[in-house]
Amino acid sequence: MKLENVVPWGRNLSEYKSMFLLSSEDLESKILGCGDGPSSFNYEATLQGTDITSIDPIYQFTKKEIGARIDATSSVVSEQLKKNQDDFVWKKIKSVDELVDIRLGAMSNFIKDYENGKNKKRYIYNELPKLSFKDSSFDLVLSSHFLFLYSEHFDLEFHINSIFEMCRVSKKEVRIFPLLDLKNQKSEYLEQILELLKDKGFETKIIKTEYEFQKGANEMLSIKSRY
Ligand SMILES: C[S@@+](CC[C@H](N)C(=O)[O-])C[C@H]1O[C@@H](n2cnc3c(N)ncnc32)[C@H](O)[C@@H]1O
Repeated sequence: MKLENVVPWGRNLSEYKSMFLLSSEDLESKILGCGDGPSSFNYEATLQGTDITSIDPIYQFTKKEIGARIDATSSVVSEQLKKNQDDFVWKKIKSVDELVDIRLGAMSNFIKDYENGKNKKRYIYNELPKLSFKDSSFDLVLSSHFLFLYSEHFDLEFHINSIFEMCRVSKKEVRIFPLLDLKNQKSEYLEQILELLKDKGFETKIIKTEYEFQKGANEMLSIKSRY
């Protein structure tokens, strides 16, 4: 991964809670966030006492490097959003300016927490489809806005290997949101992956969530082992 190709953009705990329908019991369990990037999920959940680890390839970079990249790209993202406003639901968040404020707030909390969190091994440089953790290391393993969303950039094999890897390190459940790709279409890999998971003894459920910002993206996939 080259930093010049990264456009950092991160959500907050409240958004993670509604995307993944996280209950207080979920937040008391041991969580791994895959591709958490510059979100403030880890920072805010840690403040509330959750045992949380995040992995992302951007964690190979320093605080200064990631901060500079946020500064260099946020106005470009904001302009793009203004052009593509029709792709989003402006209900909870009312305008592009409000959205940019929320995202910059989340990323600024991330930056504030990053070095301390890295020292405490809450932010770990890992890249799917390979995770450096032992089997069943976490209760709940999450992926927000990475798998399925980037179906054009990452192929079916990558998705299969990543999802089985997430299942390997999870004791109880894997949750993935959204199930749409960047064109707002259901990921072309979803059905095959559901079949494969069923064949390998996993119970899958598509659950309607409270969260919908990208139009039509209001479902998450829950994967549990049957054994
Ligand atoms: C759109 S961002 C989502 C960030 C965060 N999960 C959120 O919802 O706010 C996608 C993230 O996936 C990360 N990513 C890219 N390739 C990855 C890989 N191979 N394994 C894990 N994460 C990856 C990116 O670095 C980026 O932080």
